[in-house]
Parts: sequence; structure tokens; C-alpha cells
Amino acid sequence: MATGKFITFEGGEGSGKSTQVTRLLEWLEDRGIDAIRTREPGGAPSGEVIRRLLVEGDTDRWQPVTEILLHYAARTEHLSRTVVPALEAGTWVVSDRFADSTFAYQGYGHGFDQDVINQIHTACVGDLSPDLTLILDISVETGLSRAQDRDQGEDRYERMGRDFHKRVRAGFLDIATKDSARCKVINAEQTVEDVFSDIQSVVNAQLGLSLS
Ligand SMILES: Nc1ncnc2c1ncn2[C@@H]1O[C@H](COP(=O)(O)OP(=O)(O)OP(=O)(O)O)[C@@H](O)[C@H]1O
Ligand SMILES: [Mg+2]
Repeated sequence: MATGKFITFEGGEGSGKSTQVTRLLEWLEDRGIDAIRTREPGGAPSGEVIRRLLVEGDTDRWQPVTEILLHYAARTEHLSRTVVPALEAGTWVVSDRFADSTFAYQGYGHGFDQDVINQIHTACVGDLSPDLTLILDISVETGLSRAQDRDQGEDRYERMGRDFHKRVRAGFLDIATKDSARCKVINAEQTVEDVFSDIQSVVNAQLGLSLS
């Protein structure tokens, strides 16, 4: 059986990832495409346990390398228990964040050596790569003000300050420039409808579909 497509959403806090994942899942399902929604950190029971260590608590609770290892521990669980089995069954996987977030947040944001992140990435992920990554780009001010609506207690990264989030945003754009075949930048300052319309166009073009 053909393997499913792996689509990831990336972008800063409050850029609309979760909103657009919902829209994309509805659209794919309405067109008869078998797809699951998942997220990082988390996406499997064991990964969700690790998620809580990362999204709650003091901003400085982890050494930089510990934070990276926790993300990759969660990612390893997510891939082996959720993503890979689904793709092998022919199911599409739409993930709310994936590895680009580690490079953007821990690499560009915290300034951690990206070669070391790359080595950890290779050890945990190997050569598995999304078929398409949608990077939702938004100003730090607009994103953080939207994100304030989110549930209390999952705001550890949100509290890391504006300069950190500016580096994260620039990091995502740099990742998109360097891997332009996989990554497409979407202007997330638009209305939900207009953002989704851009996503539909990109999904059709990148994955060779003609869904309407
Ligand atoms: N295009 C948009 N215009 C205005 N508001 C939006 C738009 N997209 C999402 N929102 C609202 O902004 C808030 C954040 O959106 P959402 O939770 O989808 O972002 P996110 O990228 O998943 O955030 P987080 O990084 O915090 O998980 C929500 O209240 C959502 O309803
Ligand atoms: Mg979200």
C-alpha cells in the first residue's frame, strides 16, 4: 500500500497552527483522505507525559541540552508509536509542530549549536522528513497577543520574552529559505479563511493534488 503523506505545521506562538490543522483535517476527510491529527511535543501517551515537562513551569527549569533531549525523547515516542505506523498504513499524518520547532526554538532562539541538534536529530529521526511543512509566519506582537487566550499552564515558551520570539521567527524563515522544496511560508496575519485558502493552494501544488 502507498504510504500516507506527512504534513507538519510550524510557526511561533499564536500563529494559528492548531486552528489551521483543524481546517486541513476537515478538508482532507471531506475528500475521502484518511488522515490523523497529532502534535508535538506529545502525540503519543508517552510523548504527552514528556510534553508537560516542556510546556509548564519555570522558563529556566532545564539546561539547554536537557530541553533538546526531552523534545527528542518525546519525538522518538511520537514517531514510533503514532506517525510511522499511520504512514505505513497509508494514513496521512498532520502534525501541529515537528522538528523544525526544535531548530527554531532551541537553535535560533536559545542559540544552541545546530550541528549538535542535527546529530541528535539523525540519531532519533534518521532520514524521515515531512512531505510538506507549512510555516505560519506572524509578527511576534500579534502572535503573542493571540496566544494569551490559550489554557493557563501551557505557556512556558510564551514567557521567554519578545527577543527570544523574534529569533524564533527569523529562524523559521531561515529554515524555509534553506529547505524551500519542503517548507512553504504562509502569511498568518490574514483572516482564518484567507490563511486556509493559501494552505489549500500549497497542499494541492506540493502534493500534486487537485482538491477543491
Ligand atoms: N487568522 C486568524 N486571525 C485571527 N485570530 C486567529 C487566526 N487564527 C487563529 N486565531 C486565534 O488566535 C488564537 C491562537 O490560534 P491557535 O491556537 O490556532 O494558534 P497556535 O499557533 O496553535 O498557538 P500556540 O503556539 O499557542 O499553540 C486562537 O484564539 C485562535 O482562535
Ligand atoms: Mg496550538
